[in-house]
Amino acid sequence: MKITSKQLRQKWLSFYESKGHTDIGAVSLIGDGSTGVMFNVAGMQPLMPYLLGKTHPAGKRLCNVQGCVRTVDIDSVGDASHFTFFEMMGNWSLGDYFKKEKTAWTFELLTKEFGLDKDKLCSTVFEGNESAPRDEETAELLKGLGIRPEHIFFLPKSDNWWELEGTVGTPCGPDNEWFYPIDEEKEDPVFPDDYVEIGNDVYMQYRKTETGYVPLENKNVDTGFGLDRMLLFLNGLSDGYKTDLFLPVIEKLEEISGKKYDEDEEARKAMRIIADHTRTTVMLIGDKDGILPSNTGAGYILRRIMRRAIRYCRQLGVETSALLACAAIFIDEVYGEAYPNLHEKKEYILSEIKNEADRFEATLAQGIKEFEKCVQGLERKNAFMAQKDPSYQKETVIGGKQAFRLYDTYGFPLELTEELALERGLTVDREGFDAAFKEHQEKSRVLAGGQFKGGLESHSEMATKYHTATHLLNAALKVVCSPDCNQKGSNITDERMRFDFNFERPMTKEEIQQVEDLVNEKIKEDIPVVYKEMSLDEARAEHFVGVFDSKYGDVVKTYSIGDFSKEMCGGPHVASTGVLGHFKIVKEQSSSAGVRRIKAILE
Ligand code: ALA
Repeated sequence: MKITSKQLRQKWLSFYESKGHTDIGAVSLIGDGSTGVMFNVAGMQPLMPYLLGKTHPAGKRLCNVQGCVRTVDIDSVGDASHFTFFEMMGNWSLGDYFKKEKTAWTFELLTKEFGLDKDKLCSTVFEGNESAPRDEETAELLKGLGIRPEHIFFLPKSDNWWELEGTVGTPCGPDNEWFYPIDEEKEDPVFPDDYVEIGNDVYMQYRKTETGYVPLENKNVDTGFGLDRMLLFLNGLSDGYKTDLFLPVIEKLEEISGKKYDEDEEARKAMRIIADHTRTTVMLIGDKDGILPSNTGAGYILRRIMRRAIRYCRQLGVETSALLACAAIFIDEVYGEAYPNLHEKKEYILSEIKNEADRFEATLAQGIKEFEKCVQGLERKNAFMAQKDPSYQKETVIGGKQAFRLYDTYGFPLELTEELALERGLTVDREGFDAAFKEHQEKSRVLAGGQFKGGLESHSEMATKYHTATHLLNAALKVVCSPDCNQKGSNITDERMRFDFNFERPMTKEEIQQVEDLVNEKIKEDIPVVYKEMSLDEARAEHFVGVFDSKYGDVVKTYSIGDFSKEMCGGPHVASTGVLGHFKIVKEQSSSAGVRRIKAILE
């Protein structure tokens, strides 16, 4: 190894610290519920309020290494370079320096610190459109630094514009992407075929609205370089599973399975999937706001990932205890130093993986048999029809009802059935599945909605109101039901809020009424929502509610609503409770053992 993952993290942070940046540490991988964002997908995500103009307590120059989970490409995992978890090395200018310094520093880091050849670097910039001008300025700066002019390309919005897809009200802008030849030895590499993207500098100077882009007061920089990708690349490797982030796990899987990663293509794919998915599982369960597999929201995505890994254990011919062996290596060896909280939660993480494996294994073999029956049914029908009518078009779709049965009875996430189907050249009737699902479970809203796809929602005005309402509700439950009640999860859309909290029994009608009344009373009082940053110790001393975890820096954000509610939280919130309108609980039901769920609206 020319450079280890640990050295790379260090190098990134110390380089930017030497340029006056403060390491702000990482936040949770789990979206904070305020925006409906399921996972953290980019280093900039928790910084959005600051990119939009709010003052950051750590100053205008920030850096960190932030874990991210992106599951949109989950089906591509199994190749050499797709991962569902990765670490993004980032740095930011909040209305401070801009293109001149940023291009110079990225160039210095890549060529001096990492020793890349400037004559081989390629860089792409925004070609301009009706929303924003052609980025000649960056192109000129790059030339001035010594990048060959024929290595600078102007590309359209689809390539050189960065924004969080599916959102409005979020910061965005043109970006400058950096590329290097995949194979450094290759003579005369051709862009883009022989190149790989290593990172990008986004010039965030716009806010996305419903209709277009409006300039921000501050011109910001948002840089993101993938640690996993860089590591691969700086070590002259072309397979992401050969870096120190994965190698010990792959070796373990070779040992357990008796199969060779380099020699057996099918085994290689299975090992990659098991390794990637186990890493993400460890990170999501072990996160400071850790989640568990479930049938809704983020928990459902985790379940999909875990069950996919379990299925690939079967394919590789190993017991699911292999997952525990892999998880232990990630926790102790690979991420032990960078993520000490994983170590603290080791027993918990391992036992939850075992629980899910036991749950799914109990039905997996039976479910696969059932799936085979569906395929055979289709084949028989096709053969029969073809005999009668040679021009008969073969049926290649597995019915939605059948897929739902696999889901409901055997615990097969729909995507797993789809993946099995694909291996047989078939598809699944997704609409039929959704219909069957709705029919059986009225509470399928989350699964059917945009949430399910891991989509992002904006900090809309309504979502902000609902976010503040969750604080009032959390506080009211402590008064009416029990001081031990606490938030276990929340999910907000523009139309409603959902709030999970621990409580052993259903609430009575009276309690529901009292909670509603109390929240409405606090709304009427029009109490200012006061934001304050303080040390974790201060927050603890002042009885703020939230997850106390010192790993994520000394400064925490707190919001108080008079003496009624005191929570640590990332926001955003309304300025004063009076604007919330009328609060109404529309449903109180069980969520899981010991956890109740409230659905409420603001009228
Ligand atoms: N926000 C940019 C990215 O995620 C840096 O790539």
